[in-house]
Amino acid sequence: MKLVTVIGARPQIIKAAALSRAIRNHYADQIREVIVHTGQHYDDNMSQVFFDELQIPRPDYNLNVGSASHGVQTARMTEGIEDILIKERPDFIVLYGDTNSTLAGAIAAAKIHVPIVHIEAGLRSFNKAMPEEINRIVCDHCSTLLFTPTKAGLENLKHEGFPMGNERPYTIDNPKVYHCGDIMYDNSLHFADIAEAKTNIIKRLELVDKPYILATIHRDTNTDRPERLGAIFKAMLQLAEESPIVLPLHPRTAKLLKTNLDENLQKQIYSSQNIKLIPPVSFLEMIALERHSQLVMTDSGGVQKEAYFFKKPCIILRPETEWVEIVQTGNAILTDADEGRIMQAWQHFESHPATNFPPIFGDGHAAEFMLSRILECCACHSKPDLL
Ligand code: UD1
Ligand code: UDP
Repeated sequence: MKLVTVIGARPQIIKAAALSRAIRNHYADQIREVIVHTGQHYDDNMSQVFFDELQIPRPDYNLNVGSASHGVQTARMTEGIEDILIKERPDFIVLYGDTNSTLAGAIAAAKIHVPIVHIEAGLRSFNKAMPEEINRIVCDHCSTLLFTPTKAGLENLKHEGFPMGNERPYTIDNPKVYHCGDIMYDNSLHFADIAEAKTNIIKRLELVDKPYILATIHRDTNTDRPERLGAIFKAMLQLAEESPIVLPLHPRTAKLLKTNLDENLQKQIYSSQNIKLIPPVSFLEMIALERHSQLVMTDSGGVQKEAYFFKKPCIILRPETEWVEIVQTGNAILTDADEGRIMQAWQHFESHPATNFPPIFGDGHAAEFMLSRILECCACHSKPDLL
């Protein structure tokens, strides 16, 4: 069986490590994976570092699309992916998550009848102003096999009319939904101890045995709107009086801090001894930082989940989340970009430490499960008849 896997943004590269590892360890004789990097993320610390560190095979193709508006970026990727699909004639295309790389893969594949496997299917924010919400809805509705990480994802797909308990053959018109756990959890379990052994970031930041907050910010609604970015950083200045903050800066945020944050606030942030603004870190460094932190504060999908994997309370800098279970269990609080609500959430976790983290993300073997189901589906499928 041949799979074409499309990756492009940082979290997809990291997720792909789990699938490639499972192919290498369990299915090397049955599955050939062709990796396409769209080039959506291209800085070394947003891309290459993960290939080096997580033993992901070198991409077979790199479309080098780089940054552009949504339409231009998606169009360039779609064109490139279509050419590759026609040349490679895979049994399936594998798409992760909800980025523009996911959307481009879905459009390219569906139109020429390459069956789509969507990993991280069914998640919804119910906020269509988010580009990711559009991307994930389109991808889900073009997919043949949908692997959902959570029960909430499964319920969302049921509500959208996806069949449950249907029989083979599975097709774009008779798609199959599997609830299988989270592929990022596979990675966190696999790499947690390796990260302890191989990284020294905690020491480098002089945080050994010290409590600290780990923060990330990159959502367009937070970076592109000065009032929201300002509110988050005002809260950070207050929090930094209580505990040091480590903030690995996404390149989008690094750029927009300069234009969208009030000059006075910028000065205070850059001169604060207790706010450690650092470039994006590697995955092993990131999970070491998560594991040793006292609290995580983020608008990232992946980072809020990893906080849960490492049993840390999390302040979510968004009005809503797709990962509703971590809020329902009381381990995360939605504060939006609201200074007062951020401070209240901090105080809440100070007086009510999060202690109960039920297992809601599977058993750490989601990738093996997915590959076995893809192989089963392939066995009852004839090779796609490409247009
Ligand atoms: C993208 C995804 C988002 C995901 C995030 C993960 C979409 C619509 N958004 O957001 O869902 O959560 O990746 O990190 O697909 N830039 C660089 N170097 C890079 C990459 C980006 O400098 O290597 C800068 C550029 O100025 C670019 C900006 O970051 O314009 C935004 O990059 P882009 O990939 O468009 O969106 P992200 O905000 O990264
Ligand atoms: N991450 C990383 N280095 C960083 C910040 C994040 O390796 O400096 C990892 C993080 O551990 C998680 C993934 O990147 O696995 C999340 O990606 P991101 O926050 O960019 O996107 P999202 O998950 O919101 O789509």
